[in-house]
Amino acid sequence: MEFPVKTTNPVKAETACLVIPVFKDGDLLPAAEKLDNASERLIGQLVERGDFTAELGKVQLISFAPGLNADRLLLVGLGEREKCNEARYRKALDAAFTALANLNVDEVASALGDVPVPDRGGQWKARMIAESALRNVYRFTEFKSSPKPKPQLEQVTLLVSDGDDANSAQEGARVGKAVGEGINYTRTLGNLPGNVCTPRYLAEQARALADESGGAVSVEILEEEALEELGAGSLLSVARGSEEPARLIVMQYQGADSPEEAPHVLVGKGITFDSGGISLKPGEGMDEMKFDMCGAASVLGTLKTIAALKPKLNVIGIVAAAENMPDGRATKPGDIVKTLKGLSVEVLNTDAEGRLVLCDALTYTERFKPASVVDIATLTGAAIIALGHHATGLLSNDDDLALDLLDAGQTAWDRAWHLPLWDEYQEQLDSNFADLANIGGRPAGTITAACFLSRFTEEFRWAHLDIAGTAWQSGKQKGATGRPVGLLTQYLLDREAEARSVENGPEL
Ligand code: BES
Ligand code: MN
Ligand code: ZN
Repeated sequence: MEFPVKTTNPVKAETACLVIPVFKDGDLLPAAEKLDNASERLIGQLVERGDFTAELGKVQLISFAPGLNADRLLLVGLGEREKCNEARYRKALDAAFTALANLNVDEVASALGDVPVPDRGGQWKARMIAESALRNVYRFTEFKSSPKPKPQLEQVTLLVSDGDDANSAQEGARVGKAVGEGINYTRTLGNLPGNVCTPRYLAEQARALADESGGAVSVEILEEEALEELGAGSLLSVARGSEEPARLIVMQYQGADSPEEAPHVLVGKGITFDSGGISLKPGEGMDEMKFDMCGAASVLGTLKTIAALKPKLNVIGIVAAAENMPDGRATKPGDIVKTLKGLSVEVLNTDAEGRLVLCDALTYTERFKPASVVDIATLTGAAIIALGHHATGLLSNDDDLALDLLDAGQTAWDRAWHLPLWDEYQEQLDSNFADLANIGGRPAGTITAACFLSRFTEEFRWAHLDIAGTAWQSGKQKGATGRPVGLLTQYLLDREAEARSVENGPEL
């Protein structure tokens, strides 16, 4: 999809559909005002008569508009002006693009940048518009024999008023497009069934991503033999019950001038299906455990986005991929495995497998002497109990890193919430037989899972994102969300901006 920016007067804009935001109070925003004056008060009258209430998330299509160059108008309700904020703006955008995706048009022009969102400028709004457009035209129909026709929308022209900065809208659209495409790619990987999206498939995808990057991304795949030699016994123990061999996938993006510059590392949990293993999960809803590789998918999606945006920094993406299955050879409760770090782990529950694959991947990152490490995992059902489906759980051994990630989540509107990683929780992992156990009992399941990982991250600044509640939706809307690609991309772009401001010296 393309997002050209134009300063055309909306009255003159030649387009199949002009998208106009409207507040409830009847005071029209600049573009709506101009259109109103040119069309015998079409919009004002609709609002006055109560035919269009401008309720947040309500849209109204007007199939022809006398006096205008647009073939159609789409009015987008914003609700009350005083309540306008980021969340409500995004809700309005999603409503607009849901409607536009179902219209038979391939091109529209939008005045959605007109909306005054407190503390947010034209760049942020353009980014949100592009991202929303891409998210809402996404369809996953690969396995349907006769899918519904795909949305036609291919171009969204961003109309900006003369006074506004067209360049910053352009830059916002560039980022929003790359993020939207990364999100949709992550969704597709998540939505693919477990019999297609295996550890080998994820490795092929990483290779394809490197091939398409024109040299910006390189990839290395460690197969089971190499993992054996390395001593990644914990990662391997999870795959023992499966016919599908484990993989450790390492992707490197070099954007900094120096290949020596310390990289930011993303580590994704890539359990392509989590049956629970010998500690078998109940049958109901088990299909959703195909989404247990959404952390890995978000690492691939973020690398795709980064390869498109080309920031000047070094990024490494690591995916720990395995399938967790019960079998005669599978790891059993009580088995003791040896991690890459050398610590022994008593596997008290084979369903706590995410931490077992991540700990070896985290130890592997030590060799890169990273500037920061962020792992992303659908790690605990307890994260859903604590935070529901809106916030990603965030735990870290470094408060500055935690703040940077919280900030990035706010900017991208892909938010996380900080949970404590206090030493007091660590003793829940004590084992009578090994260095530590892989479960910590029922209290604070998300925190004890992070405590487990923290034993393997002492060498670097590290944060953990538990996306169990945010990576996919259940029910009628079942499907991967693409979170937290927005957060991760913003985090990395912020690191680039930070490095540049240091280079240029302190501001006076
Ligand atoms: N992949 C699951 C976590 C999960 C469950 C995410 C449901 C989203 C929805 C993870 O591997 C798991 O099974 N965790 C266990 C840990 C427990 C055995 C300590 C859990 O959360 O029940
Ligand atoms: Mn599990
Ligand atoms: Zn799992």
